[in-house]
Amino acid sequence: MLIAIDGPAASGKGTLARRLARHFNVPHLDTGLLYRATAAGLLDKGCRLDDVERAVGIARGLALVDFNEDRLRGREMGEAASVVAAIPEVREALVKAQRRFASRPEGAVLDGRDIGTVICPDAPVKIFVTASPETRAQRRALELAGRGEKVDYAAVLEDIRKRDARDSGRATAPLKAAADAVTLDTTLLDIDAAFAAALRIVAARAPA
Ligand code: DC
Repeated sequence: MLIAIDGPAASGKGTLARRLARHFNVPHLDTGLLYRATAAGLLDKGCRLDDVERAVGIARGLALVDFNEDRLRGREMGEAASVVAAIPEVREALVKAQRRFASRPEGAVLDGRDIGTVICPDAPVKIFVTASPETRAQRRALELAGRGEKVDYAAVLEDIRKRDARDSGRATAPLKAAADAVTLDTTLLDIDAAFAAALRIVAARAPA
């Protein structure tokens, strides 16, 4: 059971991916963490986010486990990750590890921006999770507040719009739905309803 999930920032794809992985008892990889960890590595070394050579070195050295999620999931790192993720060499450096993860015999759930288009183009199930920018900003603001960050809804909404534009507009592996992906709009859905809809998509695409 290989499930590829893509979508813009704060669309709910991570929560959905985690729940699907638990449901089908397969491992889950949040590929956004790879770009976040690469950006964090650069900032920790005092490097610029456009230092391609260092970024590639850090990306190649990532272990895909034991991320310091608390730090990586902050607002600043999401923005920095989006900048680093636009560097083609960084993306290239991360392809092999993601494909290896996806090829586990028991299957896997991966979520990101280019899973259905670039990393796992043959995945039998592809879901493109989306929601309105305002809904995503509300969710992200709640999540950040829950983590103790000071949040300003307008600033979070602006971040989301900026990130959408950068992630969709870049030349390499831009955020977009694969031609054979099913779009799941979660604007009006809570997590249980989104999960039920995702299960229906999986059942239709990969009947047991
Ligand atoms: O999903 P996220 O918000 O944690 O991702 C952070 C940034 O990383 C996102 O703005 C774009 C980039 N990213 C990407 O380009 N490709 C992926 N597969 C996952 C994330």
